[in-house]
Amino acid sequence: MTKQKYYITTPIYYPNDVPHLGHAYTTIAADALARWHKLLGKEVFFLTGTDEHGKKIEKTAKKAGKKPKEFIDALIPEFKKAWSQLEIEYDHFIRTTDPEHEKVVQEVLQKCFDNGDIYKGEYSGLYCTDCEAYYTEKDAPDFSCPTHKKPLENLKEESYFFKLSKYQDFLLDLYKKNPKFISPKTRKNEIINRVKEGLKDFSISRTSFDWGVPLPFDKKHVAYVWFDALLNYYSACQLPKKEKFWPADVHIIGKDIIWFHTVYWPAMLKSAGIKLPKEVFAHGWWTILNEKMGKSAGNAIKINQLVGYAGPDTVRYFLLRATPFGDDGDFSEQALKDRHNNELANKLGNLISRVSTLAEKYGLEKTPIKNISSKETYKKVSKYFEGLEFDKALNEIFAFIDKCNEYVQNKKPWETQDKKVLYELTNDIKDFTILLSPFIPSTCEKIAKTFNFKIDSKELDKPLKISKIKKSEILFRKIN
Ligand code: MSP
Repeated sequence: MTKQKYYITTPIYYPNDVPHLGHAYTTIAADALARWHKLLGKEVFFLTGTDEHGKKIEKTAKKAGKKPKEFIDALIPEFKKAWSQLEIEYDHFIRTTDPEHEKVVQEVLQKCFDNGDIYKGEYSGLYCTDCEAYYTEKDAPDFSCPTHKKPLENLKEESYFFKLSKYQDFLLDLYKKNPKFISPKTRKNEIINRVKEGLKDFSISRTSFDWGVPLPFDKKHVAYVWFDALLNYYSACQLPKKEKFWPADVHIIGKDIIWFHTVYWPAMLKSAGIKLPKEVFAHGWWTILNEKMGKSAGNAIKINQLVGYAGPDTVRYFLLRATPFGDDGDFSEQALKDRHNNELANKLGNLISRVSTLAEKYGLEKTPIKNISSKETYKKVSKYFEGLEFDKALNEIFAFIDKCNEYVQNKKPWETQDKKVLYELTNDIKDFTILLSPFIPSTCEKIAKTFNFKIDSKELDKPLKISKIKKSEILFRKIN
């Protein structure tokens, strides 16, 4: 039987500095979702990577006294290291300087050009290099970037344009027929209203610098970095054995780049005759003292700093539990510490330590399983994963853990030495650990090893085999 496929992407990050918590957020969410679908037995393709062309990278490299490629090459290992520190299991890391990608960009540009959707003109407007985007006076009445709060540059250059205006009806129809295309719902209306106001053709080439993919029909121009970058999702599926994954099931992005993904991207694909992705999900921002965290604001929390402080599973858990995925969240070290100590160390860690210690001492005895709430929890967690409601999925799983702790408290197996109660508890531990594994994979592996089961959704329905249990190591040491 052929496996069902699932294709998930993160944005490709600008490698102008080491990755920070904001980048980690999208990547952890995508990783948890990818692991969930793997757990369900699907063939998953999880893509991440870096967005390496454009003025912003060229400018940053110049400042560092390096050539763009030399500058970026030194940063790529930092991204890969950060993802490995956070236990991110991506299947492919794409770089927009990969020749295979550049070739696809040129092919798509040529297709859009051949069918009359690209024409030559002149651009003059307000530009933010940090966003790599133009703004109108309406978006930026004070001539400063709404995201980066920096003065906008007045640019004027010969440019090729993409006929976005032609796609207004197509886009409105797309959103209507595919209610999930723009998720969460709260973001959808904003986009629909803006599209209804009318669409301007957008500039897709530059002549003022040359760090980019040359247009196949006019080598004097390089492709606008967003036209190039968006195509990474599709070009990765032109690699050997990856064709079957297109179209993507979900692009996970931050809310700042929703316009590019829900307006430019589907119009570009339609123009080139390529199938459209099924969903674009835009999450909120992590702020610090209510200001967006990022390199430009100078308040970015670096990943190795964070992992060094709390460990990968706490970081993963905290970011996905602390705030609904579509909303903004204000980051604080205290909140991270509280969740680590109260939820991971006290609730989860103590339960595992208690049950494994008692099971080592008294052993287990089979009894028919009437699980506390496995089936119900599984159903709810599945539904929440469908809607990328990670916080709710974690709330459910932790409600289950609370019930297990209450059960231990009520049955007092340390007094009764009741092996059947211990057997029931180990079955519950198996079930919630499997559901929790996409979030905190390495801790769940340790639990599975202690109680001798496999992390596999098929194990959810099976009663645990009796085996000798050894006391677990401490899973989470408290942070003072
Ligand atoms: N290179 C483009 C994406 C191209 S995708 C075809 C880009 N790169 S980025 O490095 O600036 O940002 C990548 C992602 O990180 C965005 O989705 C952005 O929302 C996310 N984050 C950056 N800072 C963030 C926070 N402070 N909080 C949450 N996510 C944020 O845009």
